[in-house]
Amino acid sequence: MAEFTKEQLLERVNTNHGAEGNARVRAITERIVTDLFHTIDELDVTADEFWKSIAWLTRMGQTGQFGLLTAGLGFDRLLDIRQDEADQKAGRAGGTPRAIEGPLFVAGAPLSQHEVRLDEGEPEGEVFVMEGQVLDLEGQPVAGALIDVWHANTQGGYSHFFPGMKPYELRRRIQADAQGHYRFRSYLPPGYAIPPGSPIAELFTALGRHGNRPAHIHFLVAAPGLRTLTTQVNIPGDTYIDDDFAFATRDGLIVELEKNVAPVGYESLGVTAPFTRSRFNFVMQKAVNENEALPLTRMERVAG
Ligand SMILES: [Fe+2]
Repeated sequence: MAEFTKEQLLERVNTNHGAEGNARVRAITERIVTDLFHTIDELDVTADEFWKSIAWLTRMGQTGQFGLLTAGLGFDRLLDIRQDEADQKAGRAGGTPRAIEGPLFVAGAPLSQHEVRLDEGEPEGEVFVMEGQVLDLEGQPVAGALIDVWHANTQGGYSHFFPGMKPYELRRRIQADAQGHYRFRSYLPPGYAIPPGSPIAELFTALGRHGNRPAHIHFLVAAPGLRTLTTQVNIPGDTYIDDDFAFATRDGLIVELEKNVAPVGYESLGVTAPFTRSRFNFVMQKAVNENEALPLTRMERVAG
């Protein structure tokens, strides 16, 4: 039979396979295809609309913006909510909340012991120091914890993605000391928006949505035996703090800023005048298996 009704075609698409292949991939694909068939039918999607969307997906892939799409449509936060739910069921509450990773992590940032400057070579802005301890759920220091920290520059760009920035600019790794202490100097990053004129901006313009993220700093914290923590902190006072494009703001992750802190004790970071400080401890859960303690980002975990 070479003629199909819509229902017969869907049935054929979803059952036209043997026993080989991957059953999980097949089940998920079947569900998505079925939902899309129904969407096209029920919303009367025209051929032009369909092919326009395929051309858009192609352009979006070519510009590397799938990570912005997943964040902006809520999928990154959805996965965190689902993991939080699973943790709650398993009695694994506690510790610093996880937050979305975003698509802009770069592995291999320069490593420093205990403290570092992220802002080397940058124009002087408001001097900012963030410091604290890495602790476990019992409040014990996590000696030697590894902290990856990365944030945007004054124009909202990330090194390795934004033109004109140096390799690993505003990206560093810090190894906490024996008492779990870390600190770094930088400046308070601004919020930023999705690139104007890009495929992702076309979609959000069509949706009538803005593409702004409030000011934030990303972290990946890892230590043997503890569950790797992906999180980010928000800088208070940002216009978009409760209206994040990526839905990533969380209670417990909005830092407090102390203004006009005396510079005594911060000379090694080049601080010589009153500055802005934030104190924040990262509290890590125990890993229940080796996999959870792998010092990898979410994307690195699945990279082939
Ligand atoms: Fe970011």
